Amino acid sequence: MQASSHAGQSRERLPILDHQTSRRKVTRYGLFALLGAFTATSAVATYKMLYPTKVTGFGARVNAGTVQDIKTLLAGQKYVRNSEGRFYILPAAPDAAIAVYWKCVHLGCTVPAPSPALEGNIQCPCHGSLYNGQTGDLIHGPATHPLDYFKINIDNGAVIVDTSNVISRQSYSPDQTTKLG
Ligand code: FES
Repeated sequence: MQASSHAGQSRERLPILDHQTSRRKVTRYGLFALLGAFTATSAVATYKMLYPTKVTGFGARVNAGTVQDIKTLLAGQKYVRNSEGRFYILPAAPDAAIAVYWKCVHLGCTVPAPSPALEGNIQCPCHGSLYNGQTGDLIHGPATHPLDYFKINIDNGAVIVDTSNVISRQSYSPDQTTKLG
């Protein structure tokens, strides 16, 4: 009789043990799932940080418009302002242009577009540095060198300005310009 009573108790405990075991498994799997999700999210964030796929505006290649549109603007108002890329395209030579960064090289103020009141030149509003309105070359300080510039490429009839690379210079030279065709 006793033996059958013990057997009966063991049979009754088994479901409880199974239930506890299942809960532990569920908890463990849940933790693994959470850890996996966290790791995956971190990996995606790191990838996006290291390999950004949609860089636009300043710091990237900026499409300033068609060659024809840029030539028309340069012939008329004598400059093209691009707020997305923070530059002015200036008519440095016949059929050639330069894209100058609008950050003053003295202490970093934003310079305005060439002004007819200054014979087409560019004057920084902060301390008065004066730059040539066709090339960005320095006319007088306190700045000590010309406005920085960006490389222009012509791509399928579009004027593409590469603002990922700010190029400093000591003076203007024609090799800083790009033929507009
Ligand atoms: S910041 Fe332009 S002259 Fe000083």
